[in-house]
Amino acid sequence: SAPVPFYGAHQAGITTPAQDRLHFVALDVTTEKKAELVELLQEWTAAAARMTQGKDAGTFGAVGGDPEAPPDDTGEALGLPASGLTLTIGFGPSLFDKFELADRRPSSLADLPAFPGDALIPEISGGDICIQACAHDPQVAVHAIRNLARLGFGKVAVRYSQLGFGRTSSTSRAQATPRNLMGFKDGTANLKLEDTEMLREHLWAAPGDGPAWMDGGTYLVTRKIRMHIETWDRAPLSEQEAIFGRDKGVGAPLTGRDEFDEPDLAKTGSDGKPVIADDSHVRLAHPSLHGGARILRRGYNYVDGSDGLGRLDAGLFFMAYQRDPHKQFVPIQQALAAKDSLNEYIKHVSSGIFACPPGLADAGDYWGNSLF
Ligand code: HEM
Repeated sequence: SAPVPFYGAHQAGITTPAQDRLHFVALDVTTEKKAELVELLQEWTAAAARMTQGKDAGTFGAVGGDPEAPPDDTGEALGLPASGLTLTIGFGPSLFDKFELADRRPSSLADLPAFPGDALIPEISGGDICIQACAHDPQVAVHAIRNLARLGFGKVAVRYSQLGFGRTSSTSRAQATPRNLMGFKDGTANLKLEDTEMLREHLWAAPGDGPAWMDGGTYLVTRKIRMHIETWDRAPLSEQEAIFGRDKGVGAPLTGRDEFDEPDLAKTGSDGKPVIADDSHVRLAHPSLHGGARILRRGYNYVDGSDGLGRLDAGLFFMAYQRDPHKQFVPIQQALAAKDSLNEYIKHVSSGIFACPPGLADAGDYWGNSLF
């Protein structure tokens, strides 16, 4: 398939139909010189423009340069196609405490509040800058992040990174809905690239929302959510379906027959109780409970091996894009944290919030140009 265009009004990797693989990295800026950071952002942009089109990170490439110098590409993607690679950048709240940027920090980028049940590990949370690499080939996604980290040596340090597979959301109606590691279809009621009106309302920051440098941008919330897989696997099917309020096979709401039937939240069963339970995930996350608020989910499954106690270290690397996390993600997560019956089987272990600037016009433009 053709490479995903790098330039455009919005960054690629957001409404781009979700690729199969993820390599996400959060970095901290270590240089105290603003000019060095800007220079790095320019180098990154040039490398990203090349790699997303299936080329080497640098102009000489893995094997075309001076044999006495380290190559300007690490080489493991030689011969591989672009594989749908997208690279998407975001700036975290902590960046704005550096380089006297405090007055440019959008209020939508305020730190997330603490939620009941949070078990966040600081070392794998936050970050000054994030870069999301998505591709159909894991080698291509890893190659991209590795080369950007290499370019950043001495100016930024990797804080944490995460590999993901089996996208857990469809972001286009042309895609079949994939399944998460609990075995359920995930992404059925997601915002999709075809929903142009809703994307304008719920996804992209508009003029007047905040500082002008974010016009056409969007905000990313990341949550690494570990699943207690072994406990889940011992839960009866009927309980699993009640937790989500959906059928496991087809993905239909418990009040409907087909995957895309609207859940009927008012319907009661013969026992007088709601068919889609009060503490079910789909009810608590439903836009009708949150003044119509929607998010674009773009998460990935992860398995980081096992944890030394024989349990899979696995779950969902949740990522959601939206116009204002404090009006979208936060109220939804507050409702879920308070009483979602899924909570017995999950634990939020990392958290991040990032401002993702608008897209780049052309080769003269660079990541963060509107901010610095
Ligand atoms: C819906 C799984 C965490 C927001 C769903 C669905 C599943 C699911 C299976 C139904 C199908 C669909 O519409 O996609 C999970 C799992 C999670 C998780 C396994 C954690 C491990 C979250 C979090 C949020 C969230 C943290 C946001 C705070 C939503 C929303 C919907 C949804 C907005 C659509 C509700 C609707 O309009 O019907 N999720 N989810 N989910 N989830 Fe989650």
